[in-house]
Amino acid sequence: MITVETVTDLRRSVAGWRAAGQKVALVPTMGNLHEGHLDLVRKARTLADRVVVTIFVNPLQFGEGEDFASYPRTLINDSDKLSGVKVDLLFTPTVDEMYHRPQELQTKVEVPGLSGLFCGASRAGHFIGVATVVCKLFNMAQPDIALFGEKDYQQLLVIRQMVEDLAMPVEIQGLPTVREVDGLARSSRNGYLTDSQRTIAPALYRQLQRTLAALKRGQSDFAALEQQAMANLESEGFRPDYYAIRRADNLAEPSSDDKSLVILAAAYLGKARLIDNIQTTLD
Ligand code: PAJ
Repeated sequence: MITVETVTDLRRSVAGWRAAGQKVALVPTMGNLHEGHLDLVRKARTLADRVVVTIFVNPLQFGEGEDFASYPRTLINDSDKLSGVKVDLLFTPTVDEMYHRPQELQTKVEVPGLSGLFCGASRAGHFIGVATVVCKLFNMAQPDIALFGEKDYQQLLVIRQMVEDLAMPVEIQGLPTVREVDGLARSSRNGYLTDSQRTIAPALYRQLQRTLAALKRGQSDFAALEQQAMANLESEGFRPDYYAIRRADNLAEPSSDDKSLVILAAAYLGKARLIDNIQTTLD
């Protein structure tokens, strides 16, 4: 695995592979890698000849007062993990390299509608930051395929929409959420949890499963299910941000005929903001 910090070096490697007719996969990350990330890399390996991973803690997607400064930066450990899963190139740009500072970024990518909901409502500007950096990474690496986790379900939809709207020549592949044995979705932010919060944390997924079971039993009063779930989470010790049952394809409010649904949740537990979701197709 080679590690490069500049767009010039990244492009040189990728251009050589493409000239040789090789297919390139991209896995964008913010580092502090765990099994969720490594799963994306392993899948990428099966879909392409070359795998590029990026590690960049993107300041543009963090709001004021959020954890940009304290976000875990663990590059040496991350490099070790990636060496074990056969990555060809690790791209670790600096903020200056990505955004050509000190010149101010003039162009941003916005996917309105989707971006204003849920995580976008709680984190103003978050999805503009995500869409802009992912668009830049696509332009820099020119991948044939890019892989993202369903754990960040809304992010995945925003990226799919961006790619479709702007006719980007990249295939987007979403992969299922990787969990701890107790069900907690793997996340770099789980490291913010104290021991006692860590024992509470899996209750978020358990609540999603309870709502899923109710939907499968035929309950269709979505608002009541959402309210009950928020109350349950609060009594477990969370500070719930949102809990919503939506159409899986576009996050619109479902009608009783809609069968393909996603249950989305975000809740604070101490310093950590945990998100999770379950998709389902009702019969
Ligand atoms: P990050 O949180 O590092 O996640 C990188 C990728 O790993 C994303 O596609 C995310 O959905 C996926 N991922 C994280 N936890 C996962 C889990 N438990 N199971 C499966 N996949 C998981 O998401 C970002 O970074 C950034 O917003 C980024 C897309 C890199 C843009 O800056």
